[in-house]
Amino acid sequence: MPLDDFGLDDQAACLRLLSGPERHRHDAFKSEPARLQHLAVRGLVRTTLSRYRDITPEHWRFDTNRYGRPFIDDSLDVSGLHFSLSHTRGLVACAVATFAEIGVDVEPRDRDVGLAELAPAVFSPRERARFEAMSGQARQDFFFTLWTLKEAYVKARGIGLSLPVKNVELDLQVSPPIAHFGDEIDDDASRWAFRSLHLTGRHIVGIAAAVPDGELKIVPRQTRAINPPLNA
Ligand SMILES: CC(C)(COP(=O)(O)OP(=O)(O)OC[C@H]1O[C@@H](n2cnc3c(N)ncnc32)[C@H](O)[C@@H]1OP(=O)(O)O)[C@@H](O)C(=O)NCCC(=O)NCCS
Repeated sequence: MPLDDFGLDDQAACLRLLSGPERHRHDAFKSEPARLQHLAVRGLVRTTLSRYRDITPEHWRFDTNRYGRPFIDDSLDVSGLHFSLSHTRGLVACAVATFAEIGVDVEPRDRDVGLAELAPAVFSPRERARFEAMSGQARQDFFFTLWTLKEAYVKARGIGLSLPVKNVELDLQVSPPIAHFGDEIDDDASRWAFRSLHLTGRHIVGIAAAVPDGELKIVPRQTRAINPPLNA
């Protein structure tokens, strides 16, 4: 959901959906852009999940694991519905899946974060060599394509930054990208599917998914924070 047209009416509608703790967190934000991202993603996840189950947006309840990964609270007794969230300048995203190991990450293509300094910490030697041979927007896009895919994988695993992402190597010369994991990762790379989407022209969206049976099928949808019901 692009944030360009997240106007006062949509903000008010999202505010009405927040739980007590969500409202508390919302009120505590000092940064206005961060507050709006948080609000939009809460509206987005609540109304999106309601497209798939007969639960109204304000009735969803969430819990988090010890690393902060949010999931649908067990008290709702919902099975086969999972999600991952990401927010950044100008865009929030919610990936919904029938299986648990799903992760999404979004970044603006023009984000200025000192890429050359970060590269050694997040790239394998092979990825780093390719990155260093590039320049301009291609270099920027290469960086954020890898970054969002690695971050999506970290989020799908749900165990946070303890994962050494340098050891999650992605080959972008094939489409879709193929992953190779170092021994430090303790996971089988062949279980995972990775996709990179350019949905707005200004952002890169990375998705990582371990589909239990069959192939990953993605249906991208651009929406508003108040996602209408499927039968609307
Ligand atoms: C917190 C983290 C999961 C993602 O942070 P991020 O990329 O800065 O922010 P995003 O907006 O993409 O994601 C935040 C959302 O991820 C979810 N999240 C938080 N902890 C999570 C976890 N352990 N597992 C999965 N999802 C998690 C939450 O929904 C959170 O949004 P919310 O607090 O509004 O509910 C974590 O990976 C992190 O801090 N990353 C820092 C960046 C970095 O060093 N990346 C290196 C990878 S190349």
